[in-house]
Amino acid sequence: MKRIFSGIQPSGTLTLGNYLGAMTHFVDLQEDHESFFCIVDQHAITVPQDKLELRKNILSLAALYVAVGLDPKKATLFIQSEVPAHAQLGWMMQCVSYIGELERMTQFKDKSDGKEAVSSALLTYPPLMAADILLYKTDIVPVGEDQKQHLELTRDLAERFNHKYNDIFTIPEVRIPKQGARIMSLTDPTKKMSKSNPNPKSYISMLDEPNTIRKKIKSAVTDSDPDIFFDVQEKPGISNLLTIHSLCTDKEIPEIVEAYQGKGYGTFKADTAEAVVNKLAPVQARYAELIHSDELHQILDDGAAHAGKIAGSMLQKAERAMGLGRKRK
Ligand code: AMP
Ligand code: TRP
Repeated sequence: MKRIFSGIQPSGTLTLGNYLGAMTHFVDLQEDHESFFCIVDQHAITVPQDKLELRKNILSLAALYVAVGLDPKKATLFIQSEVPAHAQLGWMMQCVSYIGELERMTQFKDKSDGKEAVSSALLTYPPLMAADILLYKTDIVPVGEDQKQHLELTRDLAERFNHKYNDIFTIPEVRIPKQGARIMSLTDPTKKMSKSNPNPKSYISMLDEPNTIRKKIKSAVTDSDPDIFFDVQEKPGISNLLTIHSLCTDKEIPEIVEAYQGKGYGTFKADTAEAVVNKLAPVQARYAELIHSDELHQILDDGAAHAGKIAGSMLQKAERAMGLGRKRK
């Protein structure tokens, strides 16, 4: 069975973009892959975080992972900082990374743009991500399109390490879902829907109340021409809502376009909102059961123990390959 690994940062509540662009695929993939899903709290602290919020977000993300349908019997769910091998191999991967290639990462450029004080870890974020992936001999990394560049770098670093030291790392492949790879902001449909956007109207949180969802979709930015068709250039707002509608109802886009001919944006938006409300309802119900439960802590304890064993053995191999520590008889 092939192995998959993916990570999500616990920075703010997850959005519909995370759900449709990443988490629904995780749920499908766990059926025929050995799966590891990580809450990457050490990546989250590359930008300033409020400690109480961070703690809350870590557990909330764990509950969401389970609530969307990840089954702890099939998939390993764990918190990155609870498996120290990640930071340890992360350091070693920094030592095989070049500053120039890290500076070329678009996520680094975006996140550091215009800021006066940028942590050095924002730059060295990708070698830690490489470590996450390489510790598990990962075959496939399911992520959104925005992570493609980091994955290419991970492959380069793994190949460089294998070539320089010892051939120990599996070269991972990236898997980007075709549709829903990018859910766009509701207030600016040319930008990705993101939980780090300061305007909550720009995204739908997975935990938004039904009425909040309805209001946000109603006020989503579209154009003034009332025709409904899919064209990202000409109609970014409507195309985004079509994608969301399609993914929440399992209907194909042409079928939806056909059904709303001549009906105007009002009806289309109202129905899209209901589709989102219905899609999120069971997830929110399961979340409410889990968030204060012992069950959730047990899942994370078991996850860290299992991940720790695998990661520890890979870390040892990497240390040996690089010549760290002592040779024991
Ligand atoms: P992040 O929220 O940036 O930690 O991303 C977690 C995962 O969700 C990654 O695989 C992202 O590519 C994916 N993701 C985040 N936002 C979106 C979006 N608006 N559309 C599609 N996928 C997304
Ligand atoms: N960088 C990823 C993001 O922002 C999160 C992440 C960290 C990740 N480590 C990972 C994703 C390993 C996949 C595999 O979305």
